[in-house]
Amino acid sequence: MKILIVGSGAREHALAWSFAKRHQVACAPGNAGTAGFGLNVAADGEDTAAIVAAARELGSELVVVGPEVPLAAGLVDALSAAGLAAFGPGKAAAALESSKSFARAFSERRGVPCARTARFSDPAALERFVDESRGARLVLKKSGLAAGKGVLESDDPAELLAFGREILRSDELLAEEYLVGRELSVFALCDGKDYAILPACADHKKAGPGDTGPNTGGMGAVCPVPYADEATMARIEREIIEPSFRGMAAEGLSYRGVLFFGVMLTASGPKLLEYNVRFGDPETQSLLPLLAEDLGELCLAVARGKLGHRRPRFTGETACGVVIAAPGYPGPYPKGIVVGERLEVAAGGNASLFHASTSLDAEGKLRTGGGRCFTAVGIGPDWESARSRAYALADGVRFEGAWFRPDIGEKIFGR
Ligand code: AMP
Ligand code: GLY
Repeated sequence: MKILIVGSGAREHALAWSFAKRHQVACAPGNAGTAGFGLNVAADGEDTAAIVAAARELGSELVVVGPEVPLAAGLVDALSAAGLAAFGPGKAAAALESSKSFARAFSERRGVPCARTARFSDPAALERFVDESRGARLVLKKSGLAAGKGVLESDDPAELLAFGREILRSDELLAEEYLVGRELSVFALCDGKDYAILPACADHKKAGPGDTGPNTGGMGAVCPVPYADEATMARIEREIIEPSFRGMAAEGLSYRGVLFFGVMLTASGPKLLEYNVRFGDPETQSLLPLLAEDLGELCLAVARGKLGHRRPRFTGETACGVVIAAPGYPGPYPKGIVVGERLEVAAGGNASLFHASTSLDAEGKLRTGGGRCFTAVGIGPDWESARSRAYALADGVRFEGAWFRPDIGEKIFGR
């Protein structure tokens, strides 16, 4: 099958790597890593007409849209209108991610447990709310897409107000009660009728070791997660996943793709933090190497509404993925840093290096292009072996100012 992947991150590199085991892969625009699998097409996901034209020209039998921005812009609606099979929701259902305000109203309406939430569109009401909260820890969220940077957790009224006022200049704001617990990333494939839940992952959102420092897009992930046991997953399905899909069907939000449930396991049960309408990054880089069947056939079944009661098989191993970031990330960071030779150290069968937005310059030198530059993933029978393989690979990725968290998985598997 000919598959076109839209996006340029490490998530898309992992998708390409998995598809390429059986299928012919092209990426738009892809990166220096995906170029190794076939064709990189010079078309950006946000340029709907260019993607539709590329898919037609390539004879793509399936288009898989990785990132949220083209999904929110309606790329899948355009592909479907052109008669092309696409994996991902249309614009209306993508609002579950592109508008946190819409998503929270939806989950409240459908009885999905989540944090108590207040919505604001003007600073005066926010000021009163922060004042009345008397120093309680709050989570402020920008309603619209923010590439992982639209959330602040704080108990400092001045910090909350500064962050909230800035967002209110251009968007709606949500203020949530701060939930305490362990976090999970749960993915469910949905073909519009049936769904299948994949093994849970745990992301590491904070920049610093021990979950300190600012929020990032995610600095590493492990899969599976021991505390996501059968009873916990059954409860998440019953209280969060099933009512969400039932609600979407009832409200005409057709969904053929993967829905990502950010879940906090609190003392009073699992609560939904957010929906994302795509695979997680970096979770996907740890999840896909554990899949024991053909991802292409699975995604095509989803896109065609033919998933039925199929349950994807996984190897039973553990994966640990470590993100290697540019100096300064998640603040401002330089792009175009030359990556040194040790990169090409052979990873062997138990580790993979996924690129994000890398490119080759005119002299053939590999250069970084984003804040999160690579994900080094190790696989093993347990976390210890997966971790040592991931870090051995990450240590070999050399560029000026490269850094990574040293403790991916420790909070989950460590003593
Ligand atoms: P979101 O984009 O909504 O997933 O928020 C980003 C991150 O902020 C989440 O992955 C959590 O780690 C944290 N977070 C979001 N909402 C809450 C909440 N209500 N309580 C505690 N932490 C939260
Ligand atoms: N890793 C979290 C996300 O993809 O949004």
